[in-house]
Amino acid sequence: MSSAQQSPTRAKRVYIETFGCQMNVADSDIALARLNEAGYQEVSDADQADLIIYNTCSVRDNAEAKIRGRLGTIKARKAKQPGLRVAVMGCMAQRAQGELLAAHPQLDLVVGTDQFVRLPELLLQVEEEGRLAATDFGDFESNGNWSTRRSDGVNAWIPVMRGCNYNCTYCIVPKTRGREKSRPPELIEAEAREAVAQGHVQITLLGQTVDAYGKTLGDGSNLARLLRRLHDIEGLKRLRFITSHPKDISDELLATMAELPKVAKHLHVPAQCGSDRILRLMGRRYTRAGYLDFVERARRYMPEVELLTDIIVGFPRESEEDFQATRSLMETVNFSGAYVFMYSPRPGTGAANLEDDVPMEVKKARCNELLNLQLEMQGAWYQGLHGRSFEILVEGLSKTNPDRIQGRSIGNLNILVDRYGADGEDRLAWTGQLVKVRITSSTSLSLFAEALSPAMVASGA
Ligand code: 5AD
Ligand code: SF4
Repeated sequence: MSSAQQSPTRAKRVYIETFGCQMNVADSDIALARLNEAGYQEVSDADQADLIIYNTCSVRDNAEAKIRGRLGTIKARKAKQPGLRVAVMGCMAQRAQGELLAAHPQLDLVVGTDQFVRLPELLLQVEEEGRLAATDFGDFESNGNWSTRRSDGVNAWIPVMRGCNYNCTYCIVPKTRGREKSRPPELIEAEAREAVAQGHVQITLLGQTVDAYGKTLGDGSNLARLLRRLHDIEGLKRLRFITSHPKDISDELLATMAELPKVAKHLHVPAQCGSDRILRLMGRRYTRAGYLDFVERARRYMPEVELLTDIIVGFPRESEEDFQATRSLMETVNFSGAYVFMYSPRPGTGAANLEDDVPMEVKKARCNELLNLQLEMQGAWYQGLHGRSFEILVEGLSKTNPDRIQGRSIGNLNILVDRYGADGEDRLAWTGQLVKVRITSSTSLSLFAEALSPAMVASGA
């Protein structure tokens, strides 16, 4: 008998573990809010739970391997506690669907990326009918203003569109999240107002290709107009968005970013590669010159815009020459940050038909080389910032040192400041405030600053 059946009066307890991107984090928050409405209580210890949910990622095989590991571990516990319910949601659930149920008898429920808002009903269905997979694509974006459970903190993540209409040949996302779907702007505004009223003074709009926002609505909505609509919400201090596709960044968007003071001067625009031959095989729909043209345009509107990239090394047929083209693209652009990934074939994608022919040692060496290059360039850039002043939005304690607080510039610079002032003031109280600081030192990973006096920026803008 399950512990829930032994004590029917106590609320059921749910534990959720989230893998992958911020969209998954946002989806887990919606799932938790729905379960909470249905009487579930969230617990932070999986051992206490009657229901365990893994919100999964499929983007590379190592993400899926972690989840397979979790499902292996849970098998023994389920044998001892048959009333325990185990669910998988997110991209791996959508990709593998019924296969997951067949391979893992300890699994009760597989919930797709458009079905997780129905978790409470689906769990009841499991009790009545047994194990099931619910993975139809739907359009919950347009017809629901789903409540969400937000963690405390300065930032609120707000999904504005889901899915992707590109079809990059390495990428599983169009399969796992379906076609692009945008949420109506009035629902987004209502959610943003509520988040700000709850104290989230920074909003980050989320979408797989967030700069394509609005296309599917057919009413002239676009990201530039959405930024404008949200910008003047009282109490809002910063407005960010991720992730962009270079082809969808319009001049209107760049001009709007430059004009609106609360909008971060930051673009996460994956280049993926610097070789035309590989870009074509990847189906990215731009050339190296096209990407550089975008960079030039962005910097024309915002000379100090920070550009963050994703790079894939070891895509099928990537030669040394192709790799050097990526290296030189990174040197030319001088990105503010780079995520570098080793290519991982994903079942059912276009590139899965190409032989994964770059040996693992070569992938690793190329990955390390680009990470080192990025660190070198970043270190030199940070050195050049010594003595410069920034307005940072304080986000809280440093993740690695409780004697420091951390904040972000209007770009995306993470800046660390001593937590205690000379007068003993605990500056953790500055969380959520805009504060003036001056950079004093740096490593290639971190920037350190002193608070200027007076530190506090007067208005909320
Ligand atoms: N292998 C390696 N990296 C991948 N990405 C997406 N698909 C794959 C894959 N099959 C990377 C891309 C994308 C980021 C989220 O993950 O760089 O921008
Ligand atoms: Fe994947 Fe390409 Fe869509 Fe990004 S734009 S989610 S890489 S298919």
